[in-house]
Amino acid sequence: MVRLELPSAGKFIDHLISNRLQELDKDPYSTQSDRPFFIADTSQALKLYNRWKRALPNISPFYAVKCNSDVRFLRFLAELGLGFDCASQTEIELVLSLGVDPSRIIFAHPCKAVSAIRIASARGITLTTFDNIDELDKIKAHAPGMQLLLRIYAQDDTAAAQLGNKFGAPMSTVEPLLQRAKQLGLCVRGVSFHVGSGARNPAAFTTAVYQARHVFDLASHLHLPPMDILDVGGGFQDSNFEEMALPLSRAIDEAFPDPASVRLIAEPGRYFARSLYTMACKVTSRRRQLHLQQSPDDNLPCSYPSLTPDMLYLNDGVYGSFMLAVCENEIFVPDPVPRRVAAEDTFEPRAEGAHLYSLWGPTCDGIDCMAAEVTMEGEVRVGDWLVFRDMGGELLPDSLGALISVAAELTNMGYLGLIAYSVVSATRFNGFSNDYDVIYASDYLASATGVEGASETAKGAYKYLEWLLPGSIRGLWR
Ligand SMILES: Cc1ncc(COP(=O)(O)O)c(C=O)c1O
Repeated sequence: MVRLELPSAGKFIDHLISNRLQELDKDPYSTQSDRPFFIADTSQALKLYNRWKRALPNISPFYAVKCNSDVRFLRFLAELGLGFDCASQTEIELVLSLGVDPSRIIFAHPCKAVSAIRIASARGITLTTFDNIDELDKIKAHAPGMQLLLRIYAQDDTAAAQLGNKFGAPMSTVEPLLQRAKQLGLCVRGVSFHVGSGARNPAAFTTAVYQARHVFDLASHLHLPPMDILDVGGGFQDSNFEEMALPLSRAIDEAFPDPASVRLIAEPGRYFARSLYTMACKVTSRRRQLHLQQSPDDNLPCSYPSLTPDMLYLNDGVYGSFMLAVCENEIFVPDPVPRRVAAEDTFEPRAEGAHLYSLWGPTCDGIDCMAAEVTMEGEVRVGDWLVFRDMGGELLPDSLGALISVAAELTNMGYLGLIAYSVVSATRFNGFSNDYDVIYASDYLASATGVEGASETAKGAYKYLEWLLPGSIRGLWR
């Protein structure tokens, strides 16, 4: 039997990176050759979607657009049948522009501007969230037909990013809020919560589910129409998805035993977006810790090899797509791609073995550090590229948002969507571009199959990815 060896998706991404670098080598001193770039592979979302369906078959995901609003990614998710959690007018317009029906959108922001409420309602969005009396009054005045989810306080103290400090009605305020909604004649359909992004403690989900049950019961006690929607929010990540999903699902079964009586939805962002992008950054400069390297002939105690990492300066940093380095202390461990840039190269053989480096962004700011210490195999030189995986969606907390907004004001330059994640929150601080080149694996695959002489790897990978797709969406790749 002939066994066909197909490349893994990871190998295929590496192949695309290597192709791109060969292209850049044709004009090695161009501005473009010094710009970071992304490879986008939407097929990852398909795997995650299937995994979601296995673990949480009764919960419909409404992808949180704030996490990564790449239009082609959104279109892919729309084709898969996902709904969308939009937090602003712009996000709503974007999703509607893809032809998504307004019934597949939830305006999941409990504190909205009046103009946004009016526009959402005019565009046919019917479901939104609230967690305070004033929001109810605004909705009554400007969109009284909207249906509401009461966002209750939920908190996983171990989550990578907390949201409970900003949103969510404490349980003690639920009754007056429901009373007010009743008084205003507003329709409260159910409850939502968000335990925090990058959740790690399943008990946060289960506690929130039982509290939601309590709110459902309170609503019927107060003679409101029966609640019938439970929105379990975001917080999921692929690294521990089942660890959260299984207890969550068990708690729902227990607290809401009649599946016909409640519609279950969720607002995952990071879970779907994180593995979308692989990023390639160039080492533009390097500073070795020469002062610590003393000759072994000296009588002084020898501090060589240095324990202080040599410094690598890259063409992207925390003001670009590496926000997580600061706000979640994420440790980025890249894979180096050695390159030979003739003019700068010392032509000495590269030192072998493990090397300790710190990674810095291109701005002049001292906080622009992505890793204080990272070990890489072999010496890394100026002109080398570093590959960072899982760069599709990172969370930007309010504290860093404030910092970036000051930076943006100082530099009088725009910044995008600062309530949330990586590429969408990249700035142009210090005059560095936030306009990244994105290479779509799907495009490459489609053309590779039609082009004479296309590499075998590409053809094999195309078959591999096509094989992964269900029949209904195979056409997307062509
Ligand atoms: C209301 C709301 N829903 C969903 C999300 C997405 O969360 P995650 O990326 O953790 O899934 C967020 C993130 O900030 C949010 O604020």
